[in-house]
Amino acid sequence: MNAEASSRYTGVAIALHWAMAALLVFMIWLGWNMEDNEARFQLHKSVGITILFLAIARLAWRFANPPPLLPEGMPGIEKTASHGVHIAFYVLMIAIPLGGWLMVSVSPFQVATVLYGVVSWPHLPFTEGLIGEDLYEFTEFFHSKGAWVIIALLALHVAGAVKHEIGAEEGVLKKMIPGLFGRSDPPALPPKGFLFAFGGSAALFAAIAASALLGSGPANPGPPPPGASGTGVQANWIVDYEKSAITFSGLHEGRKFEGVFDAWTADVAFYPEALATSQVQVSVDTRTARTGKKLYDDSLKSREWFNAPEFPQATVELGEFRQVAGGYEAAATLTLKGRPVRLPLTFTLDIDGDEARLEGAATVSRKALDLGQASDAGAQYVADEVSIEISGRATRKP
Ligand code: HEM
Ligand code: HEM
Repeated sequence: MNAEASSRYTGVAIALHWAMAALLVFMIWLGWNMEDNEARFQLHKSVGITILFLAIARLAWRFANPPPLLPEGMPGIEKTASHGVHIAFYVLMIAIPLGGWLMVSVSPFQVATVLYGVVSWPHLPFTEGLIGEDLYEFTEFFHSKGAWVIIALLALHVAGAVKHEIGAEEGVLKKMIPGLFGRSDPPALPPKGFLFAFGGSAALFAAIAASALLGSGPANPGPPPPGASGTGVQANWIVDYEKSAITFSGLHEGRKFEGVFDAWTADVAFYPEALATSQVQVSVDTRTARTGKKLYDDSLKSREWFNAPEFPQATVELGEFRQVAGGYEAAATLTLKGRPVRLPLTFTLDIDGDEARLEGAATVSRKALDLGQASDAGAQYVADEVSIEISGRATRKP
């Protein structure tokens, strides 16, 4: 018997084995218990992607640190079965999370993934043309059946480990149990390849996470120079962007969310004495919607919401101003994703010399604006009504 045959798994291999075994069992339970619970879905995706990269690291570690040999007296067929189960486990530890990632990438729902609420995770590349019910159902089938294959393999694996522990052959279980029964074994070979296994896996993870940041638009481009939108409106007011804000709020799973657009421009031609010739044109950079919660921010930019990569600009044209009790009302034409929708906007306006102060509000329907209609058309998660508030300060042009 050589030294390697009787030595134990490395501490790293043992730690990975038990941590991943616990995570896999937890993931199967979570997969079966996450219906209608977005937080659990996000946790499932986060732990699943973690398992994918741990599996890559584990395989690389195994390559650098070959495992101990099976007991010499073990029948050939059992050795083959044991190896087969191990190979199948490795295949599943990669194929199930990869399949899950493919499933969410091609899902008609196109829900964003933010790992542990922190890391924006992209959809798999080159899957845009594959989005649809058919491939989604196909991947869902394999994903859910994969869990049962893990359970079946686990039964064989545990039965094998227990049989060989209590059987006549030299035990195998003690090779995988941290330091409890293995003291009589010669020490394991010195471990190597830590950087190769964990550095490589971490670098791959970082590269994919970084790719999600590309094309996500400016984090905060700051206020634009006055008149930058070039709308042709002969503005007679200069908006003070530092003191102005366009905010929105609504309900997600019964809880209030609030957000703000960081970058927008407004060309304001407003004459209280000549409302018919007054005109306002606002241009909003949809990539700059910010709520303070990464999952919301990423969701808002995604295809079924603002589809910001394709339509980075939303515009609002205000016209048909009229005075109403306590302020003004205007007809707003909001063009989002290239589709114009008309809605009323009410606002108050206080003009003090050359300073103007505006407070406005409008309520919009997600359905009317075609927002989040793939994943939540019935407003089961996000209420259909979204409030928009506008708070503006401007000075009269000299
Ligand atoms: C080893 C890792 C994983 C395991 C063991 C696992 C297991 C499961 C299980 C047991 C279910 C329930 C299936 C059913 O309803 O019958 C499930 C559902 C789901 N998993 Fe995973 N999963 C893993 C990784 C992932 C990853 C990485 C993602 C996405 C990035 C993902 C996305 C999903 C989704 C979206 C569902 C719900 C499917 C549906 O609409 O029914 N999973 N998973
Ligand atoms: C879902 C849970 C589990 C998974 C995915 C899993 C996976 C694996 C894999 C892939 C190996 C081979 C390691 C290598 O050679 O690189 C292994 C070895 C081993 N596992 Fe598990 N395991 C799980 C649960 C368990 C449990 C519950 C036990 C305890 C009875 C156990 C006992 C062992 C033992 C004793 C070995 C060493 C076998 C040998 O050297 O031939 N495993 N496991």
